[in-house]
Amino acid sequence: MRGIILAGGTGSRLWPVTHSISKQLLPVFDKPMVYYPLTTLIMAGMREILLVTTPYDLPGFRRLLGDGSHLGIQLDYMVQEEPKGIAQGLLLGADFLEDEPVALILGDNIFHGGNLGSGLCEHTDPEGGRIFAYPVDDPTAYGVVEFDEKGVVVSIEEKPLVPKSRYAVPGLYFYDHKAVKFARDLVPSDRGELEISAINSAYLREGELTVTVLDRGTAWLDTGTFSAMVQASEYVRVIEERQGLKIGCVEEAAWRCGLIGDRELRELSRPLLRSGYGRYLLGLLDDPSDEEAVRP
Ligand code: TTP
Repeated sequence: MRGIILAGGTGSRLWPVTHSISKQLLPVFDKPMVYYPLTTLIMAGMREILLVTTPYDLPGFRRLLGDGSHLGIQLDYMVQEEPKGIAQGLLLGADFLEDEPVALILGDNIFHGGNLGSGLCEHTDPEGGRIFAYPVDDPTAYGVVEFDEKGVVVSIEEKPLVPKSRYAVPGLYFYDHKAVKFARDLVPSDRGELEISAINSAYLREGELTVTVLDRGTAWLDTGTFSAMVQASEYVRVIEERQGLKIGCVEEAAWRCGLIGDRELRELSRPLLRSGYGRYLLGLLDDPSDEEAVRP
């Protein structure tokens, strides 16, 4: 299975901040936003990852993340000339995917929770499509899942004015090879985008869509507005300062997954000592509770 991070878009809800920089390069507390979805994909077992972004922002991402070899992964880049929708990411990634299944994640989505990594690893060979559902107060900004009284999914609607449930679809989708075919058959919606909800509906029509409700111990945050960004930063700060454990630390994820060793982690920490980030990485090596046994 291969991973795709969608880190393009307009970021118009963050103008003027995002006039000159991609939303996904902005900080969420102590690291760039894109670290969070990248960590999620690494924890879910992805080793080949494609990052899709705008022509203007691609050099910034490349400066930040390079070819991924320092993390023991292969990172490729692809330009999306215009923000023509999340499902366009599947078309842009078609050659990269080579008929492999895909984990598609939105660059502004943060997932955090116990056992999330090992839980996600279970989905790396999906038959059909697997998406998630998460109860939110106001689901109108998202794809919304409608369940019947037996809990069976009946419909998925994109940004409905009158939502049929409180269950929003978070920006993490696992699909088998058919997703690209479904994407090729899509026509743009009224707002001119290839909608990811239409891909999910296509799987639903074929009877091949599984929807897993994320348990309440899992946090899902998106960071598309100023308030949501501040909330996400605050969430990360509170957990990190309380636990002394970072959320969305790509170097730690790579090390815990055995993609890099102690020596590489030490080297990565060196240029980061002044911000405290490097000290955190070094601390992982010294932590007596971090025996080999607790690594996945
Ligand atoms: P959105 O939040 O729906 O759109 P946006 O990022 O352009 O922001 P705004 O609504 O404020 O204008 O996008 C969700 C994620 O998907 C975000 O990480 C950007 C990414 N995206 C793309 O990479 N390409 C696209 O064509 C679209 C629509 C989104």
